[in-house]
Parts: sequence; structure tokens; C-alpha cells
Amino acid sequence: MSPLNGKVVLVTGAASGIGAATLVKLRELGATVSGGDLCLAPLGTESRFQGVRMETVDVRDPEQVQAFVDIVVERHGRLDAVVNSAGVGAPSDLALMTHETSHRDWDLQIGVNLTGTYAVSRAALPSLLVQGGAIVNISSIMGLVGSAGFSAYTASKAGVLGLTRSMALEYATSGVRVNAVCPGFVNTPMVHRFLGRSDDPAAARRSLELVTPMGRLAEPAEIADVVAWLISDAASYVTGAAIPVDGGYTAF
Ligand SMILES: NC(=O)c1ccc[n+]([C@@H]2O[C@H](COP(=O)([O-])OP(=O)(O)OC[C@H]3O[C@@H](n4cnc5c(N)ncnc54)[C@H](O)[C@@H]3O)[C@@H](O)[C@H]2O)c1
Repeated sequence: MSPLNGKVVLVTGAASGIGAATLVKLRELGATVSGGDLCLAPLGTESRFQGVRMETVDVRDPEQVQAFVDIVVERHGRLDAVVNSAGVGAPSDLALMTHETSHRDWDLQIGVNLTGTYAVSRAALPSLLVQGGAIVNISSIMGLVGSAGFSAYTASKAGVLGLTRSMALEYATSGVRVNAVCPGFVNTPMVHRFLGRSDDPAAARRSLELVTPMGRLAEPAEIADVVAWLISDAASYVTGAAIPVDGGYTAF
């Protein structure tokens, strides 16, 4: 029996990286998945996405978010889980001190990473509350520790953890579990863009590997495995957790 059989799951940021790997993994495990993303272009003709329903949605826009949730619920008659993976790093991908960080860059990262997670959760909760369900938010190790030069990103990801814990408490007796995954450095386009802005991307990658006790980046599927477990009934007593999936980064 597939562990996610019968579950209808919505994934944001589903066209790339962790969101895409999660969409594929959940489908493999029996879930009926729908993906949403600001930009569907990366999907191209990749065979792993064939037959997956994808919608264009900007998680910063409450009307688009509501329409996306409504489409999924109308299509399948229910909603069992949400994965909030849509996210952005610092637009310049450069380390900037807080006094150098523009309000525009701050608003973008808080807007997508934190307010977007709130907006999608808010729109989905009435449906999740019908029969119970799960929300999994993709935070980051940067939500657990500080990072000089990336205060907007760390604030957005720490905010996601606060939101996760508060929602977990609010819905603890209503059958909706809310958890966060805190990935370390993952082999995704977001990290490739970051490394690509360095003068020596290979050396920059090695420096990320060096600060990771396991000595390597994660593959997106390794994050997706934990997300799938959190959605599954095997995690029926887990709520309000922030689970590092970081090769030991936060064990220091
Ligand atoms: N890659 C890492 O090392 C890493 C580590 C920790 C946490 N994370 C988090 O994991 C999540 C996924 O990141 P990733 O590495 O897969 O990045 P990615 O860039 O590969 O994927 C992010 C996706 O989010 C989408 N997106 C961006 N803004 C959006 C918006 N306004 N509305 C809807 N979709 C939007 C993008 O189009 C993209 O498809 C993010 O929240 C990121 O902060 C990533």
C-alpha cells in the first residue's frame, strides 16, 4: 500500500528544486499532486512532470493564491496537505550588511518566503480542516541560525518557523499538523545561481561542502523524503517541529 494513497497535496514552488523533487516524490508514493509556481518554464518537457497538473501562481497575491487552492479543491473534492516550497534568496545573491539591504530586497524575501507561506496556508486551512491534514513549510538552517550578509533571508525563514509553531498550536486539536523542514545547502537552481555569481563557483561550492559536516550538498530528493514522511500518517504525532535536514550543519 502506498503511504500517501488517496491524499490530495498542493505544492508551491513546484517547478524547480526542492518543490519539484517533492512533487515527484509525493506522486511516487501515491498522492494526487497539484503544483503551483510563479514561472512554469523550467518544467519544459521533462518526463518526470508529465501528467502533473501545474498552475501559475504568485504566492504574494492573495487572490491568485485563493484561486489556486479553489482550483485544486474543485478538481479533487478535497485537500489533505500543503507544501510551501516557493522561495527566493537575496536577489543580488551577494552578502549585504543590513544597512546596505534595500527595502525592495527585504520586501521581496519577506513577501515570498514568509507572507507567501502565510497566504497559502490561510487559503488552504478551511479545506484542510474538513477532514484533517498537514502543512509542511520549507524553512532553512538560516531560520535556525544567523547568517551575516543575509538578514532578510534569515528573518524570513525564522519567521516561517514562528508561523509554523503558532499554526501547530492553533490547529493541534483540529487534526491539522503543521511542521517545518530546515534544509542545509541543497543542489538546486537557487544554490547554482548563488554559486554562479562567485568568481570561482567550484571553490564556492567546496566552501559550502566544507562547512557541512557530511562534506556534501543535499540532493533535493533527500529533502522531499522528509517532507513526504511529515505528510504521511507515520508522522501522526508530529506537529510544531522544525526538522533540520542539513548534513549536520546545525549540530555544531
Ligand atoms: N537550495 C537550498 O540550499 C535551500 C536551503 C534551505 C532552504 N531552501 C528553501 O527551499 C525552498 C525551495 O528552494 P529551491 O532551492 O528549490 O529553489 P529554486 O529556485 O530551485 O525553486 C524555488 C521555486 O519557487 C518559485 N517562486 C519564487 N517566487 C515565487 C512566487 N512569488 N510565487 C510562486 N512561486 C515562486 C520559483 O519560480 C522556483 O520555481 C525555498 O523556500 C528556499 O528558500 C533552499
